[in-house]
Amino acid sequence: MGQNGKRLENKVSIITGAASGIGEASAILFAREGAKVVLADVNEEKGNGVANRIQNNGNEALFIKADVSKQDDIKKMVEKTIEKFDVIDVLFNNAGIARLKSLHELDEEEWNQVMDINLKGVYLCSKGVLPYMQRQRKGSIINNSSIAGVVGFPGAAAYCASKGGLGLLTRNMALDYAIDGIRVNDICPGVIKTPMTLDEETMGRKQIEEMEKVHPLGRAGKPEEVAYTALFLASDESSFITGSSIMIDGGYTAK
Ligand SMILES: NC(=O)c1ccc[n+]([C@@H]2O[C@H](COP(=O)([O-])OP(=O)(O)OC[C@H]3O[C@@H](n4cnc5c(N)ncnc54)[C@H](O)[C@@H]3O)[C@@H](O)[C@H]2O)c1
Repeated sequence: MGQNGKRLENKVSIITGAASGIGEASAILFAREGAKVVLADVNEEKGNGVANRIQNNGNEALFIKADVSKQDDIKKMVEKTIEKFDVIDVLFNNAGIARLKSLHELDEEEWNQVMDINLKGVYLCSKGVLPYMQRQRKGSIINNSSIAGVVGFPGAAAYCASKGGLGLLTRNMALDYAIDGIRVNDICPGVIKTPMTLDEETMGRKQIEEMEKVHPLGRAGKPEEVAYTALFLASDESSFITGSSIMIDGGYTAK
């Protein structure tokens, strides 16, 4: 904890997919806890909106338009972050998409899109920040996986494959970079109420109620409940945790 009692005092934190849902909630929470937040997203309008809200509360934020699946965008994202803040302490690989289809329904383009964003995006962003974390012999990388990366989730073939791969990439990176003092963990949310899932614009009330009931706690999660776990892993409070997965799923995978 910093001198002001903040849990991420002055930690430069890149959050991908920060314009909406879990990323947005995390950007706001990290900033409230003293982080200098870099918000990366393809959605410029919403991303700038979140960054402005953080700045209006007197905290530091920088929005960078970046597609995590594009190497040039990620190179620029890292360069701009270093130019402004000099260091990178935390990377929250959060950007992701869901194409909820079984294998036979997915066309090749959709399969590639899910893999490019959910898995290759984590490779590109992590590779981009690693030299800076290695330079300071410290860093925390948090990958946003899913319950669908741990157990099968019907009708989500590419999504399950991408998130399952992310779980083992996390453990591989934890082992490879422990020597540099870099911790790598993943988080596995259950169904969380965000525009990706339980948005009333894309789903009926009845469907939402059914999805909520799949969790033993009898409800869906809130973006803030995921953000608090990411905050813990980003902070020095979790200094002996690496290569771990934390379930945030209301008991879903305990069954
Ligand atoms: N909502 C859930 O129930 C749930 C459950 C488990 C895991 N997750 C994971 O949490 C993460 C965030 O999901 P969410 O529910 O907040 O979704 P969301 O759709 O609300 O937000 C995702 C954000 O990622 C951005 N994004 C999409 N493609 C991108 C790209 N190529 N480059 C940069 N940004 C991009 C979007 O513009 C959006 O702002 C995802 O990785 C998702 O798989 C979500």
